[in-house]
Amino acid sequence: MQAVFSYLKKNKARFVSELCEYVKFPSVSAQPEHRKDMTHCANWLVDHCRKIGLDTQLAETPGNPVVVAKTPRAKNSRKPHFVVYGHYDVQPAEPFELWKTPPFEPRIEGKSLFARGASDNKGQNLAHLKAVEAYLKTGTELPCDLTFVIEGEEEVGSKNLADFLRKNRAELKCESVVVSDTGMPGKKLPALTYALRGIIAVEIILHGPSRDLHSGIYGGSVDNPAMALAQLLARLRDKTGKIAISGFYQDVAPLTAYERKQLARIPMNIAAYQKFLGVPKLFGERGFTPMEQRSARPTIEINGLTSGYQGEGSKTIVPSWAKAKLTFRLVPNQRPNQVRAAILKQLKKLCPPTVRMEVKAGHGGEPYLVSPASAHAQAGLRALKMAFGCEPVLMREGGSIPIVTDFKTILGADTLLLGLALPDDNAHSPNEKFDLDCFAKGMQMSAHLWQELAKG
Ligand code: BES
Ligand code: MN
Repeated sequence: MQAVFSYLKKNKARFVSELCEYVKFPSVSAQPEHRKDMTHCANWLVDHCRKIGLDTQLAETPGNPVVVAKTPRAKNSRKPHFVVYGHYDVQPAEPFELWKTPPFEPRIEGKSLFARGASDNKGQNLAHLKAVEAYLKTGTELPCDLTFVIEGEEEVGSKNLADFLRKNRAELKCESVVVSDTGMPGKKLPALTYALRGIIAVEIILHGPSRDLHSGIYGGSVDNPAMALAQLLARLRDKTGKIAISGFYQDVAPLTAYERKQLARIPMNIAAYQKFLGVPKLFGERGFTPMEQRSARPTIEINGLTSGYQGEGSKTIVPSWAKAKLTFRLVPNQRPNQVRAAILKQLKKLCPPTVRMEVKAGHGGEPYLVSPASAHAQAGLRALKMAFGCEPVLMREGGSIPIVTDFKTILGADTLLLGLALPDDNAHSPNEKFDLDCFAKGMQMSAHLWQELAKG
């Protein structure tokens, strides 16, 4: 193992420049104009995996291709097999003007590498690839067989990955799936995440007049879709932060006293948090701490709101339509289908007869909860401790990785979430960055992990 760790140390600078190459691809899965960049990025990964010594294939799907890379193995290998999952797609980088330097031109400042995708998720999956490279290039025997599955549609709901898993179920059969795509509360607080929130996305369009109208001539005699939408949205959440949809909370598992105690152990400075987010005051469901609100309670968010004239100056119109993009975060044991039905019912009830409502149901994902007491979780905790040199914490996270449910139902495998992102990494925001210490420690964690997991 000494050879592995000295290899990681010796090649540190090269690994950073390779991460720079990786983040240069604007692999934005949400935007069709980046379709070619998706393929370019996937091809770069394939080349990279092959150079490392992995047996690599690019698997086409109806959407973006999946990179599948395996460690070399004996035909009848008896080693435990693990899948390492990650994603090479990134969130849109807009608004560009808020980036200090362009999102796809990596910049290193101090210990941070700034670029869209640096933290979510390219830096994190590259850390695992580098650990495996260290084993293969130093001729150190890996105690496990590994298969990397790096997809290009995570940020848009992993539409095609479940089918891919079904088709390749035999090959992907494994003990557990290892994912580094979550966070850690601080550089001295590595974390194992044992719960993720689920998600439901819906788009609401209210159609009013058949075209934008002169608001002086017609305004007052027809409803204004933007106003109707604002009023409708305002009725979906009450002042105490509760979601006002009948049946919404039906299956929400209450937080146990034990869990509340664990969550309270994670240090959180409310004043600093408020300042960091730039808000005059925090807001959340009454009766819960901010840590509980952001990780263990369901929420409604408006992600986008559009209507009427957005250009400079004024334009006096009654807009023809108004649109809102919403997402709801779900917690155990909410079921997306049941909750979606409750949402649609409530929307129908609230929609006034003066506008026509169109609702498009988007992606969905189930909440995830796994025991942090399993042997694999314990191995993960040991690997974190060895790499970071301090005691890891157990966390619930507010974000979603819907595919983990499919890992369970299709492959029968639990997911081990060992995230390397810091709270100030600006995931999904302008000036995303990845901490280079987290990158280096992440590689060490991965190198230790295969030893620890093999102990069973
Ligand atoms: N890495 C995140 C998920 C995440 C972030 C988990 C922080 C825990 C803490 C992932 O890339 C992501 O952003 N997922 C989307 C899923 C959605 C598009 C279906 C999310 O959570 O918004
Ligand atoms: Mn993300």
